[in-house]
Amino acid sequence: MAKEHAETFSVKVAILTASDRSSRGEREDISGREIAKMVTEAGWEVVSHTIVADDKKMLKKELIRLSDELKVNLILTTGGTGLAPRDFTPDATLEVIEKNVPGLTEAMRQESLKKTPHAMLSRAVSGVRGSTLIVNLPGSPRAVRECLNVILPAIPHAVALLGGGVSDCARM
Ligand code: MTE
Repeated sequence: MAKEHAETFSVKVAILTASDRSSRGEREDISGREIAKMVTEAGWEVVSHTIVADDKKMLKKELIRLSDELKVNLILTTGGTGLAPRDFTPDATLEVIEKNVPGLTEAMRQESLKKTPHAMLSRAVSGVRGSTLIVNLPGSPRAVRECLNVILPAIPHAVALLGGGVSDCARM
């Protein structure tokens, strides 16, 4: 394994699905389950999986609970990143993060554009609140797979940096 991917500790992950229909039990949360599968395969721990309606206030409240109370290392949201009237996930995320981490979403968009021009319609953002990294993924299971695969290799190092365990990348 490459040196920069060598961190071996477990990553505590919260999955947050933004979907009006799934929150009412009218649609299966296939994308949330896909995230859980990929995260578990990576050897990380899913400590929370919640489904919230596409409501900015409710999304903000859940993002704050997961980062400030549950103190997870990583929140992966799925859904609500597009242009539809009820798409609010990036807006809620921007209101709770303290630092923007554009590189993660830039990388996902760049790779996704090789698969579909619709990738440019996702307004997904990534950022840090406290010691929690928050990453927005689009809503479809395919998009989740395509996007998560791009960022997975960088997550352990991001979590190590946030935990204060790494202060000098150049020495790794
Ligand atoms: N990114 C990847 N990799 N694959 C996809 O199929 N779908 C796009 C885009 N990003 C897609 C993707 C589409 S069709 C839309 S509308 C936006 O993500 C926003 O999706 P969301 O509103 O479900 O979050």
